[in-house]
Amino acid sequence: MLDRPIKQVPTLRGVTVANMFFEPSTRTKLSFELAAGRLSAETVNFSKSGSSVSKGETLKDTARNIEAMKTDLVVIRHPSPGAPHALARWVQSGVINAGDGAHEHPTQALLDLLTMADLFDGRFEGLRVSIIGDVAHSRVARSGVFGLSALGASVTLCGPRTMLPVEADTLGVRTTSRLAEALDGCDVAMALRIQRERQGNLLFPSLREYHRQFGLTREHLRRHPELRIMHPGPVNRGVELESEVADHERAVILDQVTNGVAVRMAVLYLLAGSRDENDQN
Ligand code: CP
Repeated sequence: MLDRPIKQVPTLRGVTVANMFFEPSTRTKLSFELAAGRLSAETVNFSKSGSSVSKGETLKDTARNIEAMKTDLVVIRHPSPGAPHALARWVQSGVINAGDGAHEHPTQALLDLLTMADLFDGRFEGLRVSIIGDVAHSRVARSGVFGLSALGASVTLCGPRTMLPVEADTLGVRTTSRLAEALDGCDVAMALRIQRERQGNLLFPSLREYHRQFGLTREHLRRHPELRIMHPGPVNRGVELESEVADHERAVILDQVTNGVAVRMAVLYLLAGSRDENDQN
């Protein structure tokens, strides 16, 4: 579908999607916009800067005013965990979580799973995935753990102890602060960005020290010839990934981005398209 010369289909003609982004985004925001456009839905884009939020308007009022313009779906990214859940109680529109604080990022997990399914012929049972870095502050990691565990993959969380979630033992995953242990027998290493905006004080001595202990390098690729590298973006080159690793043929970071459009088309279709079909029955 994404490679067809004419990328647009009329499936969601007449549907309006409001993209409400209260935090910066490149991949998620653009891919939701593209996904809606390729399904012929109309989009309206809201971002915090330049909006009436700066004049004191609440999330509830902002959302209800946007919905009053007859939108059907709301895609929301917000710094507060649970904001999409609250919004779903306040508006009639379908609500899609595009990342809420350090809580969840479900469509990112779906696109990551699709990327792994492409790499391993849909095999998840026994697949070994290590998620490395600032796991405690990562919504990508949390949603990824839920999805991977449900499909039978085995997940290791790796990072400095200050960056591992306190509830890790309830998640059914292995944890380690030794990168060598996390990479031993691993099929996919998913590196995470350090979420400095969600940390109070820096949780490790320096970026150089972090890279020395947890950064993925060409040497790791040499030692693990089957290892695939993933990263949700944005990448901090020279911190979680050596620059050459980010561009390496075994890194599938841009495939993840491509799959993001397909996954978000599917999510929009399932929420809006199937609802229309039900309405007609
Ligand atoms: N992966 C991800 O959520 O990227 P953006 O912050 O650019 O949307």
